[in-house]
Amino acid sequence: MQLAGPVAGLNVIDLACGEGHFTRLLKQRGVSSILGVDVSEGMINLALAEEQRCPLDIEYRVEDVCNLDAEGEYDLAFAGWLLNYAKDAQQLSRITQSVARSLKPGGKFVTTNTNPDDPISNFQMWKSHGFTKHTSIKESSITGQAGSDIPEGTPVVWRLTLPQGKQIDITNYHLSKQTVTNTLLKSGFREVNWHRPRVSPIAIQTDGYDHWKPFVDSPPFIFLECHK
Ligand SMILES: C[S@@+](CC[C@H](N)C(=O)[O-])C[C@H]1O[C@@H](n2cnc3c(N)ncnc32)[C@H](O)[C@@H]1O
Repeated sequence: MQLAGPVAGLNVIDLACGEGHFTRLLKQRGVSSILGVDVSEGMINLALAEEQRCPLDIEYRVEDVCNLDAEGEYDLAFAGWLLNYAKDAQQLSRITQSVARSLKPGGKFVTTNTNPDDPISNFQMWKSHGFTKHTSIKESSITGQAGSDIPEGTPVVWRLTLPQGKQIDITNYHLSKQTVTNTLLKSGFREVNWHRPRVSPIAIQTDGYDHWKPFVDSPPFIFLECHK
């Protein structure tokens, strides 16, 4: 949200909005209009149910981000997890071209992504934080320790443990930082910046800095801020 900057008065699209968590947060921060899109009808139904329960004047639509029917419409495109669902550079390019096309000149795209540089040796270190990451690639089979040595398109599964002990798996695909950056630049973005996580004062107050320090030192996820 900090990378999105001041959003009051902006026309915003929340891509892969899920059940609308960030869509609602952005609306509550004073955006002029916001459209939430997600390819999953189930997710959009949850978002619509919440909109009915507590109306915020948010529009939601079931749509694949690759097929956005928008040209130069938005000041800000926001996505909490999106690019990491592309299985290869071609699929990624269909997403990033569509996002770039939907933005006004000078518009901004902000997103969260799996950190491509996260080494496999770190994948198990998040158990006490409620998740682990998994891949079928053996660390010994790759040349170095860095995540960037994982072959392009390799599935990376996030296994989340919910408070009741139930586990859910979410499959992402590994694409290197270089592939992601080059694809964004080729799609019409003039500037691509990667940002490591920062710990908010509220999080420090609630859990203490030591709880969050591993996310800063060796981030399992990372943020992108791109300018058209
Ligand atoms: C981990 S959820 C994140 C939801 C929300 N952005 C959040 O952070 O709370 C990822 C969402 O991406 C959606 N998604 C994946 N690929 C998509 C695509 N090509 N077009 C639209 N939605 C997509 C999935 O349906 C899922 O709801």
